[in-house]
Formats: sequence, C-alpha cells, structure tokens
Amino acid sequence: MYISRNNRLVQLPDDAQDALIAAARSSAPVRGLTHGFYKYPARFSPVFARAAIQAFTSPGDLVLDPHVGGGTTLVEALAAGREGMGVDISTLAEFVSTVKCRIYSEAELDRLEWWSDRVANAVDIHRPSIALTDYEELGYYKHLDHPDRWRMRKAIEQSIASAMKLGTPRLVSFGRCVVLRSAQWALDGRSKQATIEDFRRVLTETSKDMLQGARELRAAVKANGRHGVTVLRRSTAGIEHDDDVRGMRAPRLVVTSPPYPGVHVLYHRWQVDGRKETPLPFMIANKLDGSGASYYTMGDRKNPRLDNYFANIKASMSSVAAIANKDTVVVQMIAFSDARKQLPRYLEAMEACGLTEMMLPVLKEEADGRLWRSVPGRRWYSMQRGETPGSQELVLFHRKATVSPSQLQVHRGHPLPTNPAARGQSARA
Ligand SMILES: C[S@@+](CC[C@H](N)C(=O)[O-])C[C@H]1O[C@@H](n2cnc3c(N)ncnc32)[C@H](O)[C@@H]1O
Repeated sequence: MYISRNNRLVQLPDDAQDALIAAARSSAPVRGLTHGFYKYPARFSPVFARAAIQAFTSPGDLVLDPHVGGGTTLVEALAAGREGMGVDISTLAEFVSTVKCRIYSEAELDRLEWWSDRVANAVDIHRPSIALTDYEELGYYKHLDHPDRWRMRKAIEQSIASAMKLGTPRLVSFGRCVVLRSAQWALDGRSKQATIEDFRRVLTETSKDMLQGARELRAAVKANGRHGVTVLRRSTAGIEHDDDVRGMRAPRLVVTSPPYPGVHVLYHRWQVDGRKETPLPFMIANKLDGSGASYYTMGDRKNPRLDNYFANIKASMSSVAAIANKDTVVVQMIAFSDARKQLPRYLEAMEACGLTEMMLPVLKEEADGRLWRSVPGRRWYSMQRGETPGSQELVLFHRKATVSPSQLQVHRGHPLPTNPAARGQSARA
C-alpha cells in the first residue's frame, strides 16, 4: 500500500478497497476475542478495525486509537500481531481497554475458570453484603436508591466482594469486568427489572464467555506474535509532549471514532428507570468519574454552534498530526447530527490540523465519493430532533499534509476538489 502524493487517492488494490468498504458497511454482530467484555457506547465494529489494520499495516507496525473507548482497535491490533496505543479521557475506557487487552496465563485462566463456577453462589440476598460506603457517600448509587433496587445493589456488592477475593490485581480486574458487564445487562436501558436469579445466571454465563474470549486472544497472540499495548488515560490534545509518547515511532495507522458533533452519546453513565443516569459503572470498575457529559463528548450540547466541540477536535487531531509521519494513514468513523452543515466544518478542521483528505478510488461513482454507512436503530440523541432512530456514519481517510496548514490557507482562493469523481479522473489504477 502506498499513498499517492499528488492526487489524494488511497492507493490500494481494488479487492483490498472492496474488502475495506464491505467491512465498514458490515452489520455483523460484535463477537469474538474479548470484544464482548463490555458494551461500550458507540463502539465500532471489530470487523471494521480489523479490515483497516489489514489494509494499511504490516505485522509489528504501531496502530494508534486516540479516542479508544472500549478498546476495539487495540484488541484487533494485538490479535493481528501489531503494537497498539490507545488514548482516552475516561477512566472507564481505560479500565475496559486494559482488561480486554490483557493476555492471561494458562494458570490465571484456570484460576478464573474455578471462580466462574462459584461466583453465582456469592450472591445470596439472605446474607449481608459489604457496602461500598466511600462510593455511596460520593453519590455512585445515584438513582439506585429506590426501595425496589436494594436486592440488585446487594447482589452487585456481593459479586464485587467475590471478585476482590481473586487476590492479584490482574485477576481482580477480570472479575470486576465480569460484574460490570453483568450489571450493565441487568440495569442499563431496561424497561423491566431483572430478577436476582437472572443476574446470578448472567454472572456465570458472562464469566464463561469472557474466559472463552481471553483464550481466543491468547491463541491469536501466540499465532501472530506478541507486541505491546499501551493505554493512556488522558486527553489526546497534547500527547506529543507526553513522556510515554515522546521519542516513540510514528504510528503507521490511526484508526478511531471520536465523539460525534451534535450527537449526544452517554459514554459514562447507565440509564435506569427511563432516563435516570447512574455513575455506577465507575464504582464497579473501582475508578472515579467526577465529570459531566460534555467532558466526554467534547462539547456542550446546549451550544448549537458547537464551538467547544470544534476547538476540542482540532486540539486532539493536531496532536495526532504532530506524531504522524508521511506514511501514517488516519481512518476515522464519524457521524453528524446535521451532516450538511457539519461535514464541511469538520473537513476544514482536519485541514487546519495539517491533515489532507484522501479518497478511495473505487467509490468515485458514489454521491460525494466518500464511504458512508447506515446505522439502523442506534440510541442517539441529537440536539435538533431529540431521539434519532437511525443515522449515517462516514469513514474518512487522511494523511499528513505535505504543506503546513498556514501554506494551505494560501490555496483557499483556488480550492482543489477533494472528490476524484468531481475531477473526472479515472480513479481505478
Ligand atoms: C465513540 S467513543 C470511541 C469508541 C471506540 N471506537 C470503541 O470501539 O469502543 C469516543 C471516545 O472518545 C473519548 N474522548 C472524548 N474526548 C477525548 C479527548 N479529548 N481525548 C481522548 N479521548 C476523548 C470518550 O471518552 C469516548 O470514550
């Protein structure tokens, strides 16, 4: 794979482009490896991350996800024998990504298997639980204080206590992740309360599924070679100055899905009893939250001009450009509450960051030459219209500009069309 410097086309064989497009548009359910450890909101498909890694990198290359969320990119990079780095502002994202990328030894897996056969027995409504009073005082049980909820609270406390008895930090975090996923199933977005019997069953099923995933990841790493994965809990803005990043080689691929402009996604809360928000997932992960929604979504959704959003995305992507080199490909999956207004502004922001858009030649016949996909039935809340039942996502390709953003300003009077179809080129090689 190489990138043509002159015509802004991604140079990939047609069949590789077709595979990438099919993967981006795939609606296959998320499964395999450790992807099922947590349902991270607005996660992208592992099929898409895998296809981007296959198309643009070779074994041993560095893959970066600067808004790593639940770690989909890192799991796929690790399984494919690539080095991975993920960055996220959220401690919950850090927790989930780290547990999903951990390679457990056979002895650890045996110990976790033993635990998974017993964890349901730890839940007994007639026995006392150890209340997590520090978290309770900090408000982490918000909206779970309803009298009907005491059983589920107790069941969660008892299963956390069982996970903590696993002893080592690596095993305890796996156990906590089992509780996190099971409690997400029991509480988040449900119209009907789950019974304690169901919770006990799901604890066992979840831990067995997760063990299977951890074994698959271990086998993939054994087959494809083991490379490191780093998760940084911080903002991507300024990463070029971080001690863990300075001196690091440039990533060969950046694949990411940043927060979407004007689209409200609850990354850091679960919703109970309708739309009441609870920070409980942080308590289960043994992390602290302390920030409002706009911290995680890069903006204030009450501000329709989205100035905060665009300032934040520019800061993040300028730092990505600062650590990229001429061979780095940047692939983003993004959606908009109003694509007509926001897409041009988003592309301008990327240009101002020193990133040049590239097009997939095989898409030259499509409306704007870009890779769109439809997303049926997502729980998104856009500013304009309240709940949007479905939406469109866009995959953008960029590379580091060979001229600086200030030099690009000079060309503004004579903009180059970015769509190869508009330039009437024969895009297939
Ligand atoms: C759409 S999610 C990523 C989902 C991910 N692709 C997956 O498959 O799980 C966007 C993430 O960006 C993170 N984020 C928001 N602002 C950030 C910033 N300034 N730096 C790094 N991450 C940020 C959010 O916390 C959220 O986890």
